[in-house]
Amino acid sequence: MWGGRFSKPMDDRFAYLNASFRFDWRLYAVDIRASRAYARALARANLISTTELDALLDGLTRVEQEFASGAFVAQPSDEDIHTAVERRLGELVGAVAGKLHTGRSRNDQVATDTRLFVLETISHLQSPISNLQRALIEKSEQHLDVLMPGYTHLQRAQPILFAHWLMAYFWMLARDRERLADCARRASVLPLGAGALAGNALGIDREFLARELGFARVSENSVDAVSDRDFIAEFLFDAALLGVHLSRLGEDIVLYSSAEFGFVTLDDAYATGSSLMPQKKNPDAMELARGKTGRLLGDLTTLLTVLKGLPLSYNKDLQEDKEPLFDAVDTLDALLPVMAGAIRTMRVHADKMRAALDAAMLATDLADYLVRRGVPFREAHRLVGEAVKRAEACGVMLADLPLDEYQRIAPQFAADIKDVFDFARALASREIIGGTGPNAVRAQIAQAKQMLE
Ligand code: ARG
Repeated sequence: MWGGRFSKPMDDRFAYLNASFRFDWRLYAVDIRASRAYARALARANLISTTELDALLDGLTRVEQEFASGAFVAQPSDEDIHTAVERRLGELVGAVAGKLHTGRSRNDQVATDTRLFVLETISHLQSPISNLQRALIEKSEQHLDVLMPGYTHLQRAQPILFAHWLMAYFWMLARDRERLADCARRASVLPLGAGALAGNALGIDREFLARELGFARVSENSVDAVSDRDFIAEFLFDAALLGVHLSRLGEDIVLYSSAEFGFVTLDDAYATGSSLMPQKKNPDAMELARGKTGRLLGDLTTLLTVLKGLPLSYNKDLQEDKEPLFDAVDTLDALLPVMAGAIRTMRVHADKMRAALDAAMLATDLADYLVRRGVPFREAHRLVGEAVKRAEACGVMLADLPLDEYQRIAPQFAADIKDVFDFARALASREIIGGTGPNAVRAQIAQAKQMLE
C-alpha cells in the first residue's frame, strides 16, 4: 500500500501489533457504503468515467456480499478493513480499483466509517432500551396496588408504591435515550473530503457526499475532522451512564430478591443455581448488570486516556478507539434484553413488602399532622422525635403509644391521630405531580406510555 518507499518487509510481530483487521472488519458495511458514495463523487468530479464507476460499484457490492456471507478470505497483508476491501476490490475489478482512493486518506475514511457506525448503533439501541422501558411499565401496571417501603440510606424511610420505585428506572432510561439521540446530532458530521488532514485537492463535492451518506452536515475543519473522536467518547459516556442505571436496578433486585427482603423472586429462566449448594437460586443476571457496567466505565476511560495528550492531527493511537466502542456495543446488546426479560417475568410479593412497612415510617406524616394544626415544622419534627423515643422506651410501636402519652408531648395531638397510621392514606396524601399517590403514579405511567408511542 505504501511499499514504494520501503526496502524491507515489516517485522511480523510489529505487523500484528499494527494491524486492526481482526477487530475493525466489523466496519465493512459502513466502509463499503462510504466507498460507494466516494466513487460517485469521483465520477461527478470527472475523476473517473461512468464505466469505471459502474465497475467500482459492482465490485464493492461483490466484496460486501463476501463479507455478509462469510466468504471473504482475509490475507496477511490486510492491515485493516480499508486495505482489505481495496485489495479484494482490485482482485475482482482490476486496476480501476486503484482509482477509488483518489484524494482520499484512510484518515478521513476511518473517521467517516466510525461516525456511520456510531449513528447506526444509536438508532439500533433505541429498541432494546424502549423494550426494557415497556417491561417496567407493564410490571408497574400489574401491581398498581402494591405498597412497599421506600428507602433512603437503605433504611426504611416512607411508604411508596412498588410501581413508583420501578418507574423511577423508566425515567433514567428515558434520559439515556435522549442523551444518545443528542450524541447522534453531533456525530452526524461528514469527515470525508478532509483527506489526510489538509483537505481534498481534487474538487470532491462534500455536500454531495454528506447527502449520499445521510450526514446532517460536513465538518468545518479538516484537521479536526481526522483528529477528534469526541463523538465516540460521548457515546461511551452515554453507554456507561446507561450501564450505571442498569447496575443500580440490578443491585436493587439483588437486594430485594434476597431472603432478607423477599420482595421479588426472579424467574428460573433468569436465575442460576449453585454447583455445591442445591438450595441456592442466584440473581446472576442482576449481578452481571452491575459487573458488566465496570467494563463500560473502562471503555470510556480507555478512550479518554488514548485521546489525552495526542498532538494533532491523526496518530495511530486513534486506532485504539474501536475495541472499546465495539465492546460497549456488545455489552449493551447482551445486557438490555436480559434485563427486560427478567423484569417481565419476576414475581412480586406484595405481602412481604407490606410486612416490611412499619408505623414509624409514618413519623413524617405525624409531623405533617401537627403542621396542619399550626405547629412550625421544625418544632413538629422535634415533638414527633420525642414520641418515637417514648414509644421505644415503652417498648411499643409508634402507632400503639397511648393518646395521653402523645398529649403529654404536645397538646395538639388528638384522638384522630390514629387516622395518620394508615399507609394507604399516607400515599393518598401524596397525589402531587411526581408523587407516589396512586393517581399520580397512574398519571406518570400514562405519560410514560405516551412517550414510548
Ligand atoms: N486502521 C486505522 C485506524 O483505525 C486507519 C487509519 C490509518 N491511517 C494511517 N495514516 N495509518 O485508525
